[in-house]
Amino acid sequence: MIYLDNAATTWPKPTGVQQAMLEALNLGGNAGRGGHAASLKAQRLVHQVREDLCRFFGTDDPTQVIFTHNATHALNQALFGLLQPGDHVITSSLEHNAVTRPLKVLADQGVEVTEIMVHPDQEFPWAELDQAFQGNTKLVVTVHASNVTGTLLPVEQIGRIAHRHGALYLLDASQTAGVFPLDLGQLPVDLLAFPGHKGLLGPQGTGGLIVKSKVKPLKPLLYGGTGSVSESDEQPDFLPDALESGTLNVVGIAGLGAAMSYLKAQGLKQIQEREQALCQRLIDGLKEIPHLILYGGFRASSKASIVSFNIGDLDSTFVAYTLEQTAGIVARAGLHCAPHAHKTLGTLEQGTVRFSPSHFTTEAEIDRTLEAVKTVARDLV
Ligand code: ALA
Repeated sequence: MIYLDNAATTWPKPTGVQQAMLEALNLGGNAGRGGHAASLKAQRLVHQVREDLCRFFGTDDPTQVIFTHNATHALNQALFGLLQPGDHVITSSLEHNAVTRPLKVLADQGVEVTEIMVHPDQEFPWAELDQAFQGNTKLVVTVHASNVTGTLLPVEQIGRIAHRHGALYLLDASQTAGVFPLDLGQLPVDLLAFPGHKGLLGPQGTGGLIVKSKVKPLKPLLYGGTGSVSESDEQPDFLPDALESGTLNVVGIAGLGAAMSYLKAQGLKQIQEREQALCQRLIDGLKEIPHLILYGGFRASSKASIVSFNIGDLDSTFVAYTLEQTAGIVARAGLHCAPHAHKTLGTLEQGTVRFSPSHFTTEAEIDRTLEAVKTVARDLV
């Protein structure tokens, strides 16, 4: 198998992840739900990973790190926790359904939503963004990198504009956390949603939301036991407990902690450079293939490690199926849960074939992939 679906979930995971998860599974205690040794061990483990994430993302307070099941959960918590009928939110046309669908529900409840058209092959629409703000604009929410084309958004400038207009900025780092540096001490980002199972190389079922201290208390998505203030019927009002009801995924969190130790040892810069080099090799090869249409530009340095393409007017899922059957290539095709991004690209009907290498991908795998795409383009168009 040539695994090129790291934008959906990374594979393989570093070896330490499995071991850490097995150990956590055998701990025999529930974090924060008992005073016995096993429970305390689980609690310490969770706290350690919370501190690791806090340092990793440049925040100064581990209680601002909320564990969630994935980035979608984190984004839902941020959006439903912040926005009320009468508020206005600005977003982009490159979002995936983790943002689009919660915003649709909120719009039905009376939240005003403005979607700025951001085309991966064109200049960022600064004037449209600036003009979109209203007196009631509470939030700007965008993805850091499109999960369809890999296009990186100019998040620093977007955040500054949001702040200038008195709005908060929620950044969706689904495709960038663990590969691109995200220093919340520097970046004008107020809430950061991230998955644990993509660039951070942890297991599925992990993720988080970082909430900076200037953000007013978020309304919880879930209510229930937190292991704190148990005598009260009221949800605790302090973080992280206010937003972490129910037993945590300690096994997953342990795996995430081990994955982050691996990332620290490798260095993000090395990982990013390697991914961009592999992505450039892929783009350079693909753009020479007759009938091939590439989306999102030819420069890997302005992208996360994601390349979308079509071959003539062949159905994208058929191309991906053929690549798997003939060459063992694992890719994602179709709409990638991001219909607005495909509408922007003009690929809502056809979808695209998406390759997303990781730093574990080899040059030889990229070259074999290029040969296989060439064969499909030659034989099927
Ligand atoms: N959002 C993930 C993807 O792009 C699952 O495939």
